[in-house]
Amino acid sequence: MSAAITTEVGLSESGVCPYRVLRNPDTVREVLHRPQDFSPANALLAVTPLSGRALRVLQKARFALPPVLASNDTGTHAGIRKVVAGFFTPAKVSAMEPRVRALARESAARAAQRLASGGSVDLVQAVAADPPAIVMLEMLGLPVRDVPALKAWSLDSLELFWGWPDEDRQLELAHSAADFYSWLRELVLESVASPENNLFKALARHGLSTPEICSLGYFLLIAGQETTTQLISTTLFRLAEGSRGISWCEAATAPKARDLVRHVLATESSVPTWRRVASQDTELDGQRIRAGEEILLELTGNHGFPWAETAGIETAGTERPGPTPFGLAFGSGIHRCLGAKLAELEAAVVVHETAAALKGVRLRDSNPEWLRLLSFQAPRTVVVAPG
Ligand code: HEM
Repeated sequence: MSAAITTEVGLSESGVCPYRVLRNPDTVREVLHRPQDFSPANALLAVTPLSGRALRVLQKARFALPPVLASNDTGTHAGIRKVVAGFFTPAKVSAMEPRVRALARESAARAAQRLASGGSVDLVQAVAADPPAIVMLEMLGLPVRDVPALKAWSLDSLELFWGWPDEDRQLELAHSAADFYSWLRELVLESVASPENNLFKALARHGLSTPEICSLGYFLLIAGQETTTQLISTTLFRLAEGSRGISWCEAATAPKARDLVRHVLATESSVPTWRRVASQDTELDGQRIRAGEEILLELTGNHGFPWAETAGIETAGTERPGPTPFGLAFGSGIHRCLGAKLAELEAAVVVHETAAALKGVRLRDSNPEWLRLLSFQAPRTVVVAPG
């Protein structure tokens, strides 16, 4: 069984804050640029210790997350990253723009039709959910199938690893993660044997084992689309709410849609925090850090750590010195997000096309339920009705 599901962080159980919370953007950047002192080995660990019952479900599915990419602090990281980066080069991302726009237009047109017939529409499901998943699978050379299942598995796995589920909920989520992992293993085996080029085949050629490819795929197939869906959801919610100084009409232009997405990335991105662990005794801002100390980095604005109490995290005295530079939303340094350009493009295009197709809408529910996990946030629904 991999460290990722057997080594957990003791949270509220111990009553002791498990993380040193860093909010100053300069300090956050420094940590990200000192990988020899601050390792990403804890980036994908379960926030809530997994119960024996949940672990048994995962073990039965041979679930394992050996460190390969986001949590890999060894010398193999650079080579593996290069293979993945080859699928998301700036040229490949730019070439995808017409496809992203076509998908965004199609879903926005369907939503407009439903509104025209007098109904209300949840923009999360109608326009934010599918385009990022379809585009990601196409760019990786993988078959576009089971998208609704992939979306549901993604949310469940995020909650299992970054949330605070009780034992019963954990068991449900573990079953979902096991189903996802089994589906993924089939896909990996099929893709490695395929005559066509695809990410999994490229990773096998690079020398990765099937469990290593599954581990990478598990992270990437979630991170490569659900985070973008969440960014689009928050942006559309703030647009419909009218709280970001850009009107619905203005967002129907490409530059304003992009400005709005960047504003949300700086103020309340879908990935507001990320983790590191001190790999040796060291110093930071004149303070001693002990080897093994867990660190929570605030990358962008969030909702004042609404989860802090649940997580037993002490945030008093850690006020931010000022607004976050938008540049930290995708991390920094050798693990910086490989999908930053794609995510920004997709979000800007979907917001632009949605604002253009859906004229005169109003937010029907101004206080929706939010997904709020240690490192992920977004409204679960953005329901609009004809204005
Ligand atoms: C709004 C959407 C997204 C946000 C906010 C986001 C954010 C992040 C963050 C904060 C990290 C950790 C960076 C670090 O440790 O320095 C990361 C890593 C990563 N992201 Fe994203 N991401 C998004 C979308 C995507 C997409 C669309 C893809 C791929 C299609 C992707 C692929 C990756 C990969 C592969 C890594 C690990 C890189 C490495 O360890 O070398 N992400 N992302």
